[in-house]
Amino acid sequence: MVYRVLNNIALKNVNNNIISNISTDLLVIPVNKKVTSSSEFKELDKKSKGYLLKSSKDALNPGNQNHLVSALEGIKAKKILLMQDLNEKDDIYLWLNKYKHIAKVANSMNCKSMAILDGQCYPKGKDQSWFLEMISRSIESGAYIFSTTKNKTAKTEKIGKQVVSSQVSLKNVSIITSKLSSTEIKKAKTAILRGFSVGEGVNTAKHLGDLPANHATPKLIEKIVKNTTKQYSGLKVKTLNEKDLAKLKMGSYLSVSKGSDEPPRMIIIEYKGGNKSEKPLALVGKGITFDTGGISIKPSSGMDEMKWDMCGAGTVFGVMCSLARIKANVNVVGIMACAENMPSARATKPGDVVTSMSGQTIEVLNTDAEGRLVLADALTYVGRYNPSYVIDMATLTGAVVIALGSHASGVMANNQFLADKIIESGEETGDRAWQLPLWNEYKSCTKTNFADLANIGGGREAGTIHAAAFLSKFAEDYKWAHMDIAASAWSSSPKGGTGRPVSLICDLILNKKLK
Ligand code: BES
Ligand code: MN
Ligand code: ZN
Repeated sequence: MVYRVLNNIALKNVNNNIISNISTDLLVIPVNKKVTSSSEFKELDKKSKGYLLKSSKDALNPGNQNHLVSALEGIKAKKILLMQDLNEKDDIYLWLNKYKHIAKVANSMNCKSMAILDGQCYPKGKDQSWFLEMISRSIESGAYIFSTTKNKTAKTEKIGKQVVSSQVSLKNVSIITSKLSSTEIKKAKTAILRGFSVGEGVNTAKHLGDLPANHATPKLIEKIVKNTTKQYSGLKVKTLNEKDLAKLKMGSYLSVSKGSDEPPRMIIIEYKGGNKSEKPLALVGKGITFDTGGISIKPSSGMDEMKWDMCGAGTVFGVMCSLARIKANVNVVGIMACAENMPSARATKPGDVVTSMSGQTIEVLNTDAEGRLVLADALTYVGRYNPSYVIDMATLTGAVVIALGSHASGVMANNQFLADKIIESGEETGDRAWQLPLWNEYKSCTKTNFADLANIGGGREAGTIHAAAFLSKFAEDYKWAHMDIAASAWSSSPKGGTGRPVSLICDLILNKKLK
């Protein structure tokens, strides 16, 4: 199942200034000087007998971000939202927030359709294509509301003191541009399709994360992923079950699922849109469908959040769906390393030593440091694909929440070019990432008297880097980066997946920054 919220995002290019004829539930007009002096706006304003121009001044009051106007005679749109536009110096995250918010406004007013005028004011250094892609992605992802396990009849619900919509009403969006040439129209359509498709990937990742752990076990995720391949001819799925993993000698991976009644699944998705000879880029995602901590059990408060411990795998799935929809001409292999981490009489105990697929033995000093155990074997396995680059994504450490907070994912790499490109794509998409060092000094912590490596080390110091240092021992044969998304992949208030870093990874792949 692909999680697309909207039916369609279309381009509406007008050549004769007529916007008053556009039928829509909500017409959104960004208010800036360019817009109010345009012939399109003047046409509308004339129909409103000057009311829109007057109201647009209200929308520009600093304390007044949006101004809603009800139906006006001579204008087909049922409502008009005059939206205070941003200015080219404003940060990209403000642009993203603005358009995500617009989708939420449309849902809250029960609108089925929305038309947005391109205000022709873009952040510094960005062009119309960037803008159209960003709007499409933000509207698709902003319209998302999780409702799979909720009452289907309620229209609104109370979360704390806030009343919010509990169902998506928005279906069709159009973006209005004016006087584009046929080449420009083609370019604009490509940008919109990209943004919409990436937004769909973002929502796919959010949805998988938001599903409760009993609705998204490794086996159920396998089913969801397999159903998806039916929708996209470009995706090939292969899954490895417990027996397969044992045959591959993935003792590290299997030590995590050992205490659970839910068997593990390693799900491999291949997308071949590029030249046959081109090495694939590999994406590896931590897919712990629920992390209790195992025998090193976690405190009960807030433990429900550990249903999002599969967001790395969710990102892999989301990105693969987006690439297939865009029909990108690249080769990518995605691995979702799914398992449930539970305590039981059969569970791995602190001090147990297991043998990884790489042959290195690992002393499991803390069963709550389980993500690195599944990733270790997944990283070894992915070497078989002779990848050009490998990027793993994992909700790996609480320490990254302290180090960077939720505004940036953490990046650590054995290849600086790759780290630089990841950070660049983060800037481009507003899905930011920031690097932490991975010097050899940090790697000594993995020493123990009883195995080649221990799965924890360093005490309270630099937990995020020590986790990456452990992973680096399984990624020596290729160019690799690790992204710690424990803070960025979901939000605790309001609770929900964010779909990060799908946008970043898609930008990295689509703009071929890795060649
Ligand atoms: N899934 C958690 C990381 C996590 C914790 C994400 C809190 C978001 C919020 C991971 O498996 C974990 O438990 N990590 C431990 C590692 C420690 C035992 C070395 C942590 O960060 O506390
Ligand atoms: Mn854990
Ligand atoms: Zn975990």
